[in-house]
Amino acid sequence: MKIVNSKNIISSLVSEYKLLGKTIGFVPTMEALHKGHISLVKKALSENNIVFVSVFVNPTQFDNSQDLEKYPRTLERDVELLKEVSDKKIIVYAPTVEDIYKNNVTSTKFDFDGLENEMEGEFRDGHFNGVGTIVKRLFEIVTPDNAYFGEKDFQQLQIIRKLVEKHKLSVNIVGCKIHRETSGLAMSSRNERLKPEHKKAAPFIYRILKAAKKKFGTKSAAKVTEWVVSQFAEQDLLKLEYFTIADIKTLKPIKRKSKNKKYRAFIAAYAGEIRLIDNIALN
Ligand code: PAF
Repeated sequence: MKIVNSKNIISSLVSEYKLLGKTIGFVPTMEALHKGHISLVKKALSENNIVFVSVFVNPTQFDNSQDLEKYPRTLERDVELLKEVSDKKIIVYAPTVEDIYKNNVTSTKFDFDGLENEMEGEFRDGHFNGVGTIVKRLFEIVTPDNAYFGEKDFQQLQIIRKLVEKHKLSVNIVGCKIHRETSGLAMSSRNERLKPEHKKAAPFIYRILKAAKKKFGTKSAAKVTEWVVSQFAEQDLLKLEYFTIADIKTLKPIKRKSKNKKYRAFIAAYAGEIRLIDNIALN
């Protein structure tokens, strides 16, 4: 498997493949690969001739320096996992911070039509500017035909769609279903950092999302939200940060249900010190 650290080498490989008429799939990651990432890579392989996987812990999207320090660095293990999927059709791009940012490790300020201010935007200052900066740079280097992102970070997915639309980037964004552990807990690199008691408690998040979906059939968003908040109040090991039912296009909290709009319910909650997010389609 080719593991490349330099954007210039990536660009020349991309040119070679494009000259041969190959389609290019792209899966950006931040190391600590799990089955959710692997499912994105497998989907990308089934729809493209060659798949680039970037493995880069992007410093500009962390609003908390401790979170960045504690972030697991697992390149060797990640490469082994990818080799099991395909040794020949995957190229790993594992750049240094300098290769991406030169000497200027800062993010660009984006206007995502307000999507960046909802939910995660309220709690993670500057996070989506960091995501927009790295994803745009990676798209410019890899110039993929198709790029794959998980629906677990649904707000991120919608923001990346907006980035592509606003900057007229020629890449097709593919949203992929949330991969879950048998317990229902959404797969995340953070799950490994959960203490056993929190790991046991955390599947409550998906159970409550499913129950909220059921209630949303007959009750208002405000009533469902009130109910979810009361259920979390009874949990000793989980602390709700937000529960929001939002329009999937604007990500704004719903005021009144409308038949021709699509909605999702979103949760962020702490299990001990670990912050988890999840969401579910409501209609
Ligand atoms: O979802 C992630 O892992 C990151 O936000 C991404 C898209 C790889 C950008 O660093």
